[in-house]
Amino acid sequence: MQFPAEPFRIKVVEPIKITTQEEREKLIKDAGYNIFSIPAESIYIDLLTDSGTAAMSDNQWAGLMLGDESYAGSKNYYHFENTVREIFGFKNIIPTHQGRVAENLLFSNILKKGDVVPSNIHFDTTRANIEYHGATALDCVIDEGLDPSNPHPFKGNMDIEKLEAAIQKYGKERIPVIMITITNNSGGGQPVSMANIRQVSDVAHKYGIPFFFDACRFAENCYFIKEREREFRQKSVLEIAQELFSYGDGCTMSAKKDGLVNIGGFLAMNDDEWAQRITNMLILIEGFKTYGGLAGRDLEAIARGLKEVLDENYLRFRINQTRYLGEMLDEQGIPIVKPVGGHAVYIDAKRFVPHIPPEQFPGQAIVVELYRRAGIRAVEIGSLMMAKKDPTTGENIPPKLELVRLAIPRRVYTNMHMQYVAEALGEIYRDREKLRGFEIEYEPEFLRHFTARLRPVGNE
Ligand code: F0G
Repeated sequence: MQFPAEPFRIKVVEPIKITTQEEREKLIKDAGYNIFSIPAESIYIDLLTDSGTAAMSDNQWAGLMLGDESYAGSKNYYHFENTVREIFGFKNIIPTHQGRVAENLLFSNILKKGDVVPSNIHFDTTRANIEYHGATALDCVIDEGLDPSNPHPFKGNMDIEKLEAAIQKYGKERIPVIMITITNNSGGGQPVSMANIRQVSDVAHKYGIPFFFDACRFAENCYFIKEREREFRQKSVLEIAQELFSYGDGCTMSAKKDGLVNIGGFLAMNDDEWAQRITNMLILIEGFKTYGGLAGRDLEAIARGLKEVLDENYLRFRINQTRYLGEMLDEQGIPIVKPVGGHAVYIDAKRFVPHIPPEQFPGQAIVVELYRRAGIRAVEIGSLMMAKKDPTTGENIPPKLELVRLAIPRRVYTNMHMQYVAEALGEIYRDREKLRGFEIEYEPEFLRHFTARLRPVGNE
């Protein structure tokens, strides 16, 4: 591994409050052992998400001062549009205030009840937006992508046979779009290869089905292509991105990830008729077509962020910092999903605390302990977040994987912070037999992980 030295220096600092273990014990207890209910101010290192949490550069902050807040035709919009077009190549570019609105606009306009949308793995908001329209979100990732220890270099790839089988089964008339998530967040931030994208594009176009990217982490995906696909070793990440998007017909994008901004997104596509309809709806729910729910200054920050994210010194640091954390955990014997993805390290909770059964939330036991001992916020992606209710018995069916995600904000934490996280997890791992499971005290009907209250097993 290359040591991931930071390709930036620090000009402004945000002090972080240091709490004591005693204070944290009270906070987490009062929060019903739910990490979402802890005030962010009482967290030392926040690895809840890499979305909207990036540090902007001096160049982006300077851009904010150049915000043109005209209702129509802001100059920042044209800068944003030109930048997106240069990288992504699509003809129509529609700004939105974040990724899920782009999804909502797309699906509201193209889906009808009974339709099917295949992808490698749909992210939750994408799935929810598809299901909301009575359609099915179908995951077709390769089998290797579902095995936490399989070392396949492109575990985000779509299984072409599964995709073909879906088209045969449902018929192309019921598949208005094929999507692919780069990198595949729900599968561990794993990349998709250019070879696979070419194949998916060929299949889609053979049947006349439009092919869209969920492009949130496109730059990280393109960096993996450069690193792992021989053909692209000499190409710039920008050239790789341009080729990759040339195989598609459009994309949804949350700029809160690889846009290096705290808010923003867009929808882009070649089809003029779809774009026209969607723009009309944008005006109804988000705002005029040259701002889409954003301020002019936000569009400027995105335009600048999209250029900065393609800087290969930045990407080398970014990918290697995540890998560095993963390797420090691996060296201590802590079970993680391998290979390490682009934006997060995922701990395999089933192997970390095998004595805690899924119904007692093994991932949550690690999340709570990480906060209690070290003030670090991670998130459980297992039985608490992902269990599905059996429609007949009403019982919870646990998901296949019990994971804890450590998502790394962009340009925010130093490698010393990563060492602190690794050391804290090492201590917890050595004491893992003492960890106890949790049971539910209160849960809402939907999306229970956000607001559920828990208690340690055995505490009435
Ligand atoms: N698609 C992917 C792959 C995502 O990871 C996300 C958000 C979205 C779409 C939605 O974008 O939040 O701007 O509306 N992921 C965040 C996460 C929330 O923590 O992984 P949004």
